[in-house]
Amino acid sequence: MNIRLGDVAPNFHAETTQGPIEFYDWKGRSWAVLFSHPKDFTPVCTTELGYTARLKDEFERRGVKVIGLSVDPVSEHQRWAADIEETQGIAPNFPIIGDEDRAVSLLYDMIHPNADATATVRSVFVIGPDNTVKLTLTYPASTGRNFDEILRVIDSLQLTLRHKVATPVNWQPGEDCIIVPAVGDDEAATMFPEGWVTIRPYLRLVPQPEPSL
Ligand code: BEZ
Repeated sequence: MNIRLGDVAPNFHAETTQGPIEFYDWKGRSWAVLFSHPKDFTPVCTTELGYTARLKDEFERRGVKVIGLSVDPVSEHQRWAADIEETQGIAPNFPIIGDEDRAVSLLYDMIHPNADATATVRSVFVIGPDNTVKLTLTYPASTGRNFDEILRVIDSLQLTLRHKVATPVNWQPGEDCIIVPAVGDDEAATMFPEGWVTIRPYLRLVPQPEPSL
C-alpha cells in the first residue's frame, strides 16, 4: 500500500518486544513515530536504536510514542537488545515489532523489492494525534537516519498545528517562523498581537510561538 501525506495511517495488530499491540489502541491520541530497519544484528541499525533510546525524554516532552519494526522475530530483537546496551550504552526502551509475516511491512510499503526483496528499508512515518500521516521518509539500508531531524520536523509540525506558523529553510527551534499564507493580516493581528515583519506580503516573520502542548 502506498501511503501518502494526509492519509489515515492503517491500524494493525503486531507482536512486539513489549507484548502484542493493536496499533490504534497503543497509540491513542498521541503523536507516533513508526520506523523500520532492515535487520537485527547489523551495524547501522544498532547505532540508530541506541540513539533513539537516548531521545526518550525528547519524544515524551513532545507527546510522541516511538515504535520500531523489522521482519526479524521478537525473540531476536530481545537477544539483540543486550548488544545494543553493551555497544551503545542504552537498550531500546520502546517497542520493536517482530514482523515475521511482513504484514505491517507490506501494509506500510516498507519493503522495496528493487533494493532488497526480503528486508525492510529505513522507512519513517510520523503520525499525528488524528492518525493521519504527517511525514514519510525512506532511506537506503546503508545510511543511518538523523533522529534529531525527525524531532525538528515534529517541532515544526506541532507549531503549524497549534499556531498556524510554518518554518523556513534550516529552521532550528527558537528561530523565527513564517505566518502561513492561509492566515490573512486581520487574523494574524489577533494571533500575533506583538506584530510581525513583512518581507513580502507572502513572507511574514514572527518570533517562534511557545511550543506548549
Ligand atoms: C545495516 O547496518 O543495517 C546495513 C549496513 C550496510 C548495508 C546494509 C545494511
